[in-house]
Amino acid sequence: MPTTKIFLTGATGYIGGTVLDTLFHQRPDYHITVLLRKIPDGFQEKYPNVEIVIGDYDDSDLVSATAAQANIVVHGGNSKHEAVIKAHLAGLLTRPEKSFFIRLGGTGVIADWKDGPYGELNPKVWSDIDDIDTLTSMPDWALHRPVEKLIQATAEANGEMVKCAIICSSGVYGKGKGMVRTRSLYMPEFYGEILKLGYPFYTGSGGNRRGWVHIEDLMRVYLSLIDAAAVGGGNAVWGKEGYYFTATQEASQLELATAAGKILYARGVIDTEEPKKLSIEEIGAMTLGSSWPYMGFYTFACNTRAKADRARKYLGYEPRAPSVFECMEEDLREA
Ligand SMILES: NC(=O)c1ccc[n+]([C@@H]2O[C@H](COP(=O)([O-])OP(=O)(O)OC[C@H]3O[C@@H](n4cnc5c(N)ncnc54)[C@H](OP(=O)(O)O)[C@@H]3O)[C@@H](O)[C@H]2O)c1
Repeated sequence: MPTTKIFLTGATGYIGGTVLDTLFHQRPDYHITVLLRKIPDGFQEKYPNVEIVIGDYDDSDLVSATAAQANIVVHGGNSKHEAVIKAHLAGLLTRPEKSFFIRLGGTGVIADWKDGPYGELNPKVWSDIDDIDTLTSMPDWALHRPVEKLIQATAEANGEMVKCAIICSSGVYGKGKGMVRTRSLYMPEFYGEILKLGYPFYTGSGGNRRGWVHIEDLMRVYLSLIDAAAVGGGNAVWGKEGYYFTATQEASQLELATAAGKILYARGVIDTEEPKKLSIEEIGAMTLGSSWPYMGFYTFACNTRAKADRARKYLGYEPRAPSVFECMEEDLREA
């Protein structure tokens, strides 16, 4: 069988770094090339035989040329960068034989940030099987949608030559295994805002819920898809319907705030463990360093509820990692 050649991006990131580490240790037969803007100290010693291409997502010719040498592109990092997606796909389309494109997305695509109900439970739980027609025709304002359209258009036009899959992940928790960033997004942001206020918080009833996945369980989805690609597609679904949620559990904002309050109060970081209700304006004023005006709402007041039906059905996905609450003590320590 020919060598499996993987081109991986985002390899210094929390998720991409863990993908690299997982592949390096668990699939030593795969040849891996990474795109790095800067080589971290000790990278080559830690990952000998991993080929490095120095470049940025904006270096379209380089990305295309490198993708053209791979039979599997695993793209992560800045999920919404359109030019890099076009470059990968253009590169893969030059190959004379079938190749695979696996892109990391996020359940921001189903988040109810635009109209709410902020701080309240939205009863809609999305299935990546039952709701696939809606998921593949979301409006352009949905987060990730412009990039997903590019991928799904390629899947429709050239689906036999470029087999696409989108890993649409819920919020990830747990310590990453990469060399640079090993922390996810939500817990550090939540921790930072709690420290500023002196107490954990929610808005509305705090009933808004988001899905969660441990980084180790997320790696099970990655490995299953990459292994399937390595044997020509396997049992995985590719193309327009190659859309995989990853969630293994849900938690409401009030549940998260209650758990964080107990941990941080016991640690002496805050003076009260009791979560407090903030106004929607106060939540909206939390920019979290982003220029997107909905960032506070999206992070603390929205619902992103998803069931990983496709991974369970086609990839035999069986989550095994500890829950978001079991990991919160450590995740808030790391924050
Ligand atoms: N963490 C979560 O809970 C979660 C859940 C669902 C979806 N996502 C999405 O998945 C993506 C990755 O998440 P993450 O937590 O792994 O992020 P992260 O730790 O910030 O990693 C980002 C990676 O992308 C690379 N990168 C970004 N812009 C680049 C560019 N222009 N050229 C080359 N490399 C570039 C970074 O490289 P440098 O080291 O050079 O900066 C880094 O390797 C994000 O878009 C995020 O929104 C995250």
